[in-house]
Amino acid sequence: MGHADPQVATSLQPFWMPFSPNKEFKAEPRMFVRAEGMYFYTPDGRPVIDASSGLFCVAAGHCRREIAEAVYRQLQTLDYTAPFLRAHPKAFELAERVAQYTPAGMNRVFFVNSGSEAVDTAMKVALMYHRVRGQSQRQFFVARERAYHGVNFGGVALAGMVNNRRAYGPGLAGVYHMRHTALPENKFVRGQPEHGADLANDLLRFCNLYGGENIAACFVEPTAGSYGCLPPPKGYLELLRKICDDHGILLVFDEVITGWGRMGANFGAQAFGVTPDLLTMAKAITNGAQPMGAVAAKQAIYDAITDAGPQHGIEFFHGYTYSAHPASCAAGLAMMDIFRDEKLIDRAAAMSPYFTDAMHALADCPGIADIRSVGMMAAVEVAPVGAPGARGHELQKKLYDIGLNLKGTGDSLIVAPPFIAEKKHIDEIADKLREALTG
Ligand SMILES: Cc1ncc(COP(=O)(O)O)c(C=O)c1O
Repeated sequence: MGHADPQVATSLQPFWMPFSPNKEFKAEPRMFVRAEGMYFYTPDGRPVIDASSGLFCVAAGHCRREIAEAVYRQLQTLDYTAPFLRAHPKAFELAERVAQYTPAGMNRVFFVNSGSEAVDTAMKVALMYHRVRGQSQRQFFVARERAYHGVNFGGVALAGMVNNRRAYGPGLAGVYHMRHTALPENKFVRGQPEHGADLANDLLRFCNLYGGENIAACFVEPTAGSYGCLPPPKGYLELLRKICDDHGILLVFDEVITGWGRMGANFGAQAFGVTPDLLTMAKAITNGAQPMGAVAAKQAIYDAITDAGPQHGIEFFHGYTYSAHPASCAAGLAMMDIFRDEKLIDRAAAMSPYFTDAMHALADCPGIADIRSVGMMAAVEVAPVGAPGARGHELQKKLYDIGLNLKGTGDSLIVAPPFIAEKKHIDEIADKLREALTG
């Protein structure tokens, strides 16, 4: 442990770490200084297997040379151009490539820099779409408990994880939450659980209470990711789709984690056979090597907003200084080549049964409350010891020392390895998890 470079007495104090226990970390830092393929490396050169693809980003494994070189070349050719009123060819190329993976018809792509920005952008697209069609009364949003939709105010209002909301006031008015789908009868289920499709009727409850004609959009993660892998009950997303259609509500899938192969198909939309109207993505679109997110929209939504605008003026007053940044587009295009050339999504789907077996085999470890899985994602939830999340937190520290990196939320350990993982890597992840859970 210690500083990244012992030769440089860097103070750890000025960097205010996000979503981290700053005091604890700075007293006992756990750093990585290098990464390659499936592994991070600590300052003293110890390999730590990456069981969560960083934060669900690094689908193709770490430090892909193709991506690094594409970014380097791009920064030497065109480092930056304003994305408003000017553009560069790679933005168009990447949008076209992305649209080859999204569900049919979802072929208009708005680039942003993160999942949080994608969520807020999707909210604005929904409001704008209704407005241009003379339905500007549609101002309400419905989302779900236990959801994570990023940390901007729009996403926080939609989200359903209390610690991310409680300090920040009432947020946006008019956002309502359906119940989550974590039912006791769905414990230790592989893939989509049998029970809970009817929970989608909560959306109907809000239609009846506030008027379906006043609801702009319903946001869900096809599988709740950050909370700890909650796959949708069988029939749940289909029922949501139907209620949305019946009431003219846009269905938005937040696929920041579930997109790009994690569910065993291009997007959760295809994995679960339900097509939303808008779909957010980020993370693996560049393999995490450059910040980037996007909203894919049905063409009819883009057309409605664009056609309603003035002949020579801006149609949609929204965008970021770094939307479609050239370096991010270069990274995204290199990643699209990797997806294509290495059939990475097929590879994820093929490895999923082995991975799933390995994760569910941990059920005999002491104090396991639940194991949930779908595609190349699983959550091993431990029974709380003391305060909720305390055991999960202690496990996090132990995992670094054992040589395993994964994302924890509360008492759930979320496993989502890169798609380059071989069986030996899955075995190593499972063995190290067992060591941590039994030790
Ligand atoms: C479903 C979902 N939406 C939005 C976000 C926010 O993404 P970002 O951290 O890139 O802003 C995340 C991040 O994990 C996410 O899982």
